[in-house]
Amino acid sequence: MSCLEVRNLVKDFKIRSGLRSSTLRAVNDVSFTLEPGRTIALVGESGSGKSTVAKMISQLETPTSGEILLDDAPVGRRGRALTDYRHQVQMVFQDPFASLNPYHTVAHHLERPLQLHGVASGAELEPAVHGLLERVNLTPAETYAAKRPHEMSGGQRQRVAIARALAPGARFLVADEPVSMLDVSIRLGVLNLLARLQREENLGVLYITHDLATARHFSDEILVMYRGDVVERGPSDDVILDPQHDYTKTLLAAAPEPSRHGRLREEVRAELAGA
Ligand SMILES: Nc1ncnc2c1ncn2[C@@H]1O[C@H](COP(=O)(O)OP(=O)(O)OP(=O)(O)O)[C@@H](O)[C@H]1O
Ligand SMILES: [Mg+2]
Repeated sequence: MSCLEVRNLVKDFKIRSGLRSSTLRAVNDVSFTLEPGRTIALVGESGSGKSTVAKMISQLETPTSGEILLDDAPVGRRGRALTDYRHQVQMVFQDPFASLNPYHTVAHHLERPLQLHGVASGAELEPAVHGLLERVNLTPAETYAAKRPHEMSGGQRQRVAIARALAPGARFLVADEPVSMLDVSIRLGVLNLLARLQREENLGVLYITHDLATARHFSDEILVMYRGDVVERGPSDDVILDPQHDYTKTLLAAAPEPSRHGRLREEVRAELAGA
């Protein structure tokens, strides 16, 4: 079956302080399966291991143990299998400004992955770039293709980062706090874009966030991490409305404005209706 699966993932970091060295278990036995057209939210306090899971999936960190499988096949460490995996599983980071080169145009940022991954070349590049920009609602595409990162808003830059992730033909996106650095007013637009791609293009999304309200609204399933462990998991509404684990209850109690859940849904609905 088509899916991205992590099985019993563990990550230990060696910590050195002076002459002593110790081991920190950042991720402890995490397993889940992300299917196309679905969104899983990974929530939990700072330091709970969310980004470390994302980095292992993105091959930026090597798991201490456990497996990552794409379409039931373990991810290769090198060669074609790894290249294929990288085409299909892409990452969107928190800070779009840091991930874009200020000297290059949007077109340049998108042409590179298209060329590198053999998706388009020569005369095909321009229409391919425009097609990507249209998919992330940056239109007219010709105008945005010529811009440099500083000529755009944070939300527009994050859309470019998403377009770049889509360029190699990604089927799964790992989005690590993709809107937490953006102005509150433009967060929903970017999240709605991810929701549309998930729905219309059958993308699988791993959405990492501190924000329980958007986790609930934008994901099918929520996994709650605490000190490296997944302490609770389930359909989004169940986890938020009827949390079983004390840590989830604490997280919910600490979330700003509980009434916000209701309001956010209204805002999202209004925006979706207008989109
Ligand atoms: N390269 C590293 N070397 C040593 N320790 C690390 C490394 N990367 C992460 N850690 C530690 O692993 C733990 C989990 O970190 P991680 O970044 O995955 O948390 P997080 O849930 O993403 O937190 P945040 O919400 O703040 O982004 C933390 O204690 C962190 O200090
Ligand atoms: Mg993190």
